Amino acid sequence: PFSIFDAEGDRLEIVYKVVGRGTEALAAARVDAEVHALGPLGRGFPVSVRGTALLVGGGYGSAPLHLLARRLLAAGVAAERIEVFIGGRTAGDLVAADRFPALGLRTFLATNDGGIGEKGFVTVPLDAEIARLQAAGAPFELFACGPDPMLRAVAGRAVAAQAPGWISMDRHMVCGVGACYACIQRTVRGNERCCVDGPVFAAADLVWE
Ligand code: FES
Repeated sequence: PFSIFDAEGDRLEIVYKVVGRGTEALAAARVDAEVHALGPLGRGFPVSVRGTALLVGGGYGSAPLHLLARRLLAAGVAAERIEVFIGGRTAGDLVAADRFPALGLRTFLATNDGGIGEKGFVTVPLDAEIARLQAAGAPFELFACGPDPMLRAVAGRAVAAQAPGWISMDRHMVCGVGACYACIQRTVRGNERCCVDGPVFAAADLVWE
């Protein structure tokens, strides 16, 4: 349940949810406590895009998209070519939604209960934007992080549109270095480990159960 939200110089910001002993201990850590971390591990999002980057986050999955957005901007991608779509069940599930407009990015929100943004899944505003870009003949790439049903929906759209899609799979990891096989993901190449081969996979390579 960890997302790297931001990184600058010697500072690292992590967004996490308290779900067990480890995250409880982290939440209880005092200021200036020493913690040990191993990383960076695995393969992240590409920091380049052809056309418009559509960043799609569900719940806590929006957190790492913030760092991706900042990296794309730093790489020279214009703010007008990065659009953000964030969905969740309720307004309280939308993480860091205010941080994307603060970067100058068009940000679309959707909630299942309609409490904020569009009512329904994040694919509602996403589909409208994909249709607009396709009608204009404008290339785009999809970048997604969030719960599996959302990732599957986004990957399907990327494949259908023949657009590159970059999907960050959210699997429980134990060792983080490829030794335990706790984090298997089926791909067109066979079973791969999210911690070393991912967590970001090309949408066209993923095989869904
Ligand atoms: Fe152990 Fe991926 S977490 S192999």
